[in-house]
Amino acid sequence: MTSKRQKLSLVAEAQTLCELPLYPGTLGPDVIDVQALYQATGLFTYDPGFSSTASCRSAITYIDGDAGVLLYRGYPIEQLAEHCRFLEVCYLILHGELPDPDPLRAFERNITLHTMVHDQLSNFFKGFRRDAHPMAILVGVVGALSAFYHEALDIRSGRDREMSAIRLIAKVPTIVAMCHKYSTGMPFMYPQNRLGYVENFLYMMHATPCDEYRPNPVLVNALDRILILHADHEQNASTSTVRLSGSSGANPYACVSAGIACLWGAAHGGANESVLNMLEEIGDVSRIPAYIARAKDRNDPFRLMGFGHRVYKNYDPRARLMRSTCHEVLNELDLHDDRLFALALELERIALEDDYFIGRKLYPNVDFYSGIVLHALGIPTKLFTALFAMGRTVGWIAHWAEMISDPEHRIGRPRQLYTGPARRDVPAGHRRTR
Ligand code: ACO
Repeated sequence: MTSKRQKLSLVAEAQTLCELPLYPGTLGPDVIDVQALYQATGLFTYDPGFSSTASCRSAITYIDGDAGVLLYRGYPIEQLAEHCRFLEVCYLILHGELPDPDPLRAFERNITLHTMVHDQLSNFFKGFRRDAHPMAILVGVVGALSAFYHEALDIRSGRDREMSAIRLIAKVPTIVAMCHKYSTGMPFMYPQNRLGYVENFLYMMHATPCDEYRPNPVLVNALDRILILHADHEQNASTSTVRLSGSSGANPYACVSAGIACLWGAAHGGANESVLNMLEEIGDVSRIPAYIARAKDRNDPFRLMGFGHRVYKNYDPRARLMRSTCHEVLNELDLHDDRLFALALELERIALEDDYFIGRKLYPNVDFYSGIVLHALGIPTKLFTALFAMGRTVGWIAHWAEMISDPEHRIGRPRQLYTGPARRDVPAGHRRTR
């Protein structure tokens, strides 16, 4: 099959069953349009886990997992991580182009002016136990935002969609910091309009009414980079969840809340928290071989957290960038002898030399290093996935908006291969007598 061919013929027993159109993308594999397949043949396609299925057209992010390439709107992640700030990348992901200085200033100002949450929203926190997982609170409170902005919830209005994007990018960090303060019993800190996006988040996390907090610029840069690296990753599980939820016409806050729920899983965004828990459990370099043996044992469900990726079958380019940020932060904080980091490096070294991991192309992923950096930044382990959600909010909302504006969009409704019992009657003994 080449992109020059326009159609693929489905032939069975020398008879053409149907002709399926082929579409080329700007980069990456062509796709076969199977929309007409069922009508023409009575057949469904079967692809659990969506390994070979494109669910939409998208112009936001491109990944070549074999080559280890990640582009946002065409720009390589390495260049964006080196030359841009997170809010510039947000603008790029939302609008398709890097901003000139004036639109960037206006965008930053707009975000800043929406960082405060409705005071009534604080009451939601009181309904949660203090030891609730921050992701449980985040799912609830972000979903609850839809109860506050009735005036801008018309999903067909470009202006309302833009407003929802600004509100979500601005308020999710405030809510994440509130989750932290609530769990520690400390008062919520209001956002400060004089501070940049990341500084403001660190301020809301670490300042108290009794104490000034001055964020360290190296740590601000590290967190900014973490957010850039997590900003989007095309049709991953949580983004697909946001799109599927939104396909029914649900409001963006509800959809992003569904994305947060999906992200929480350990096979997805929950991995950064699992990495730290795993390192704590391993505890000492001498115990690594036993854990590697467990990871390789088919009868043991244990997996090396932070290794492997559905799409990257090469080094995850985000992991490479995160690894260097990890070194910068540990140098700045003089933590190079940190027990967990030493463990992580040894684990990485052994796994990269082991035939099991080499053969299966299991490389460290971005979560392997981001967990260590977040730990060094003083972010509690339970909050790691919430920080991933903070970075990914822009990706979720950009995909949601792209889907709503796509004239081809319909409610998402997958089909199935039914394997349950064939039709049967309720036995006579089970029939209710009236
Ligand atoms: N440790 C040990 N073995 C592994 C690991 C791992 N981390 N990941 C995959 N494998 C093995 C599988 O057992 C399987 O082996 P087999 O061929 O002998 O059966 C093979 O590698 C292929 O694995 P799959 O599960 O089929 O790969 P899939 O693409 O479905 O899963 C996933 C990808 C979920 C990321 C998986 O690698 C994993 O669970 N990793 C650990 C969790 C993690 O780090 N998740 C973060 C993902 S990145 C992100 O969300 C930002």
